[in-house]
Amino acid sequence: MKSFYITTPIYYVNDIPHIGHAYTTIACDVMARYKRMKGFDTHFLTGTDEHGQKIQQAAEAKGMTPQELVDKIHVNFRELWKVLNISNDDFIRTTEDRHVRVVQAMFKKLIDQGDIYKGSYEGWYCVPCETYVPESSMGENRTCPDCGRPLTTMKEESYFFRASKYAPQLIEHYEKNLQGVMPRIRYNEIMSFLRGDVRDQSVSRTTLKWGIPIPSDEKHVVYVWFDALINYATAVGYLDDPEMFKRYWPNVRHMVGKDIIRFHCVIWPLMLLALGINVPVSVIAHGWWTVDGEKMSKSKGNVVDPFKMAELYGADAFRYFLLREVPFGNDGDFSELAMVGRVNSDLANDLGNLLNRTLQMIMNYSGGVVPAAKEKDALSEEVRKLSESTVTQLDGVMDTFSYDEALKLIWVFIARANKYIDETSPWKLDKEGQKDKLATVLLTLYEALRLSALLVAPFIPDSAIKIWKQLGLQGSPLTSLIDDFRWGDGAGSHVAKAEVLFPRIDVEEWKKARAASAPKESVAPATEHEPEIDIEGFKSVEMRVAQVIKVEEIPRSKNLYKLDVDLGYEKRVICSGIKRFFKPEELEGRRIVMVTNLKPAKLCGIESNGMILAASVHEEGNEKVSLIVPASDIPLGSRVK
Ligand code: ME8
Ligand code: MG
Repeated sequence: MKSFYITTPIYYVNDIPHIGHAYTTIACDVMARYKRMKGFDTHFLTGTDEHGQKIQQAAEAKGMTPQELVDKIHVNFRELWKVLNISNDDFIRTTEDRHVRVVQAMFKKLIDQGDIYKGSYEGWYCVPCETYVPESSMGENRTCPDCGRPLTTMKEESYFFRASKYAPQLIEHYEKNLQGVMPRIRYNEIMSFLRGDVRDQSVSRTTLKWGIPIPSDEKHVVYVWFDALINYATAVGYLDDPEMFKRYWPNVRHMVGKDIIRFHCVIWPLMLLALGINVPVSVIAHGWWTVDGEKMSKSKGNVVDPFKMAELYGADAFRYFLLREVPFGNDGDFSELAMVGRVNSDLANDLGNLLNRTLQMIMNYSGGVVPAAKEKDALSEEVRKLSESTVTQLDGVMDTFSYDEALKLIWVFIARANKYIDETSPWKLDKEGQKDKLATVLLTLYEALRLSALLVAPFIPDSAIKIWKQLGLQGSPLTSLIDDFRWGDGAGSHVAKAEVLFPRIDVEEWKKARAASAPKESVAPATEHEPEIDIEGFKSVEMRVAQVIKVEEIPRSKNLYKLDVDLGYEKRVICSGIKRFFKPEELEGRRIVMVTNLKPAKLCGIESNGMILAASVHEEGNEKVSLIVPASDIPLGSRVK
């Protein structure tokens, strides 16, 4: 049996899983499921990347050990994969002993054979991305070209991997193996990089602790990328299970986002060449998702939460949309509205209706039992032939990871079957008593659905199971072999009651609900800026938490209240121009923030000894005011800094 081994990147645990991680993993899952259904001995790996500076820093900030932190948060990924129906055979964590041992063994082998040597490294480093950034690719003001954050200088003694030595060999390999990097645009990018100046790579760090130690030199830990890439070999038994390694490694394919192709298409294959291991069959790079036209970021608050998408629309709808919407390899833009549109048109209408109409007709015209075909006719033959060519063509497009093309092909077939209903008008055949013709039509539709259930199974597994059940079939489409399908074998099946597969989403209602739940973001015009101050200038303003004890009106003033406030260590009287915005009872008893070292001033004949803080803005001619209050319980008199 031919094997097929596919991997996702191992994700950094410190990020919450979002649509990007979901996309790569879903794409791998669909491929793994498809290959299983094509009879391949398939192995599908995902996991988490758990070492490095970011984790160390995050753990310090939380007062945990790095191990405690990663034990806790890597679970986010495991749970998401459950929710999204991911069928991975293994989940690897780089902190596992099985991995640590492989990394140390490979490192040692490369030192022993002279392909890793000691030197020193100085450069600009991006901590969040765990990578040195060469001067030539820095952003403005020494920022990281990927994440935009400021770089820091680093100088350290370091071990280096002789990448340069193996570069010519890799070029030669890629020249003969065009599928080594997919799609072509990435292949070209990698080739031009390889033909340029490939430098030896720093592969150890002395500046952090949270990494895999190098046993022969305890000052150093292995650089996180060198460590991470090796996971793909660890998981199929490089050290512990040579049989397994022999079985899967020759057919390994890595899927990654375009952000990390240099690591996967240059560094990793060079490491493998040095170790005397085959380079991957293919590295497949997909594009980048934006959301409603914008880059995703926590600060914009537009990060798409896959848990929520699965909860709202079902995992299948989300899976289908991601793979159908953009040609694989291209960048894509996620919009929930576009997803709703696709669910309605492709899943609810095309597929859902075909199932529903067919089951109804088999119930009504054939007592729920699928008839055998009595005669062949041109139309039913056309549908059958299309089924065959669909299966063949599907294999071709799946081989190039063209998921969107694959779905288009399947949906052309589904559309053909729907049209066949209109062309043959089974209700007329029933009325006219044309039993043989009707039998052929019902069987043809049933077989079209039975095959469709198999073909969509890798993409929308839950729905495929539902279709299978409604068709009255035994077993599961997920464990069936596509090539075992024989047209006509479905005759004699007893169909079950038709149930809605994908409920239609009313777009107008959806928009209304969306508008009602959306937070109204209004933004104050920030036009009146003050001149810059230094920290001393700011510190000179003494602010403290106080409580409003009593509020009195000042007869001659329409703006001012006289407030008695308690600072804990003393009581004060202040006059405050907030009368138009608050009733006395809205203020009395409240904890507020006040400036305590403001020069006393006489207002309407009363001496004011301080000022309370409030935010204000002019909106459509009205002034809006909000008190600044401590967010949690804190003693009176506490200093605000
Ligand atoms: O890079 N669009 O982990 P990571 C599409 N630990 N895909 C996206 C995406 C987006 N907006 N954002 C993330 C690492 N991805 C390393 C990998 S492998 C030995 C080590 C996906 O958590 C995409 O697959 O930053 C990308 O390559 C990956 O998440 C990066 O995940
Ligand atoms: Mg990243």
